[in-house]
Amino acid sequence: MENSLKNPKKVLILGAAGFLGSNLVRRVLQEENIAVTAVDSLDPKLLSTKDTLADVMDKITFIEGDILDRKLLQEVVTGQDIIFNCAAQTSHTLSFKDPVFDTEVNCIGNIKLLETVRDHAKDAVVVYPSSSTVVGKAVGDVIDENHGERPLDIYSTNKGVAEKYYRVFNTVYDIKTVVLRFANLYGPYGKKDPAFGFVNYFIGLAADNEPIKIFGDGHQTRNVMFVDDATEILWQAAHSSKLFGESYFATHTDHHSVKEIAEAIAETFGQIKVEFEPWPDLRKRIEIEKVLFSSDKLRGLIDWQPKYSLAEGLKLTKERIKK
Ligand SMILES: NC(=O)c1ccc[n+]([C@@H]2O[C@H](COP(=O)([O-])OP(=O)(O)OC[C@H]3O[C@@H](n4cnc5c(N)ncnc54)[C@H](O)[C@@H]3O)[C@@H](O)[C@H]2O)c1
Repeated sequence: MENSLKNPKKVLILGAAGFLGSNLVRRVLQEENIAVTAVDSLDPKLLSTKDTLADVMDKITFIEGDILDRKLLQEVVTGQDIIFNCAAQTSHTLSFKDPVFDTEVNCIGNIKLLETVRDHAKDAVVVYPSSSTVVGKAVGDVIDENHGERPLDIYSTNKGVAEKYYRVFNTVYDIKTVVLRFANLYGPYGKKDPAFGFVNYFIGLAADNEPIKIFGDGHQTRNVMFVDDATEILWQAAHSSKLFGESYFATHTDHHSVKEIAEAIAETFGQIKVEFEPWPDLRKRIEIEKVLFSSDKLRGLIDWQPKYSLAEGLKLTKERIKK
């Protein structure tokens, strides 16, 4: 890993109680001499809870607060070496029910953060996890960063807008930004709710011995990635100055149908039934069918490969859920 930072000591994780944020807290705590500040609004409508951080609470400074609060942002951002903004409204369906709320968190929240970094923590690296869904339905077989952006829902639209803020603040103000586009992450601390990522929903059902329900026949394909591979590349990206200013797909090379993913989860958790049900109208309209993302741009710049196969990632997920 390129060492572009002076032995970083202070790390801020926004949205730290969420699925990715809480796993990232644990990844960052593996480093020595690190002070982690963790912020989350714990919004009940986003099914957020600080239980996801229970066993690491004594190792971090946790603040319940909103990234839309400029005063709080200034307090927590000042003096940080690395800032990860995992705070987001992440439900595609909720983004239709309350598009203004989605826009406030996913657009205004990022603008407020970037302005605060520019004014109070200009040397910090700011890493933003974006979503592969900014591109919408695939044109062609493989999607890379040159693919057009035709998002199908408000969440993905706003993620795509936020990405551009990070680029602009790098171009105009020299803020050290990196944007990584993830697709279908899974692992411990995921939400058992179909409105949030489908892999974690299936895992939640299987962990509670309930049947997994697939919309349609499950032929639709996805890149899926174990969350430890995501937290690793987030950490690595924060130390790789050649990535600053750009957006990259950070996806697994493995590619599975939804049926294969459901069956792998069912097998890992033991004799769980996989059932099929008709598509709800809204979900069908925003379904992206077959998608295969390429992370060649990222891999051309830094040495990163996901470490875990689907079977390995699911096995680790099950072990950590049981603890
Ligand atoms: N999980 C995935 O598969 C995936 C894929 C692509 C991109 N991402 C991106 O990764 C990031 C994290 O996603 P996640 O899966 O952990 O989602 P999540 O919903 O589990 O976590 C988001 C967290 O942000 C917090 N939050 C929301 N609004 C806030 C605010 N105004 N102030 C402070 N905290 C706030 C929520 O309380 C929640 O704990 C998001 O930006 C998401 O778009 C995730």
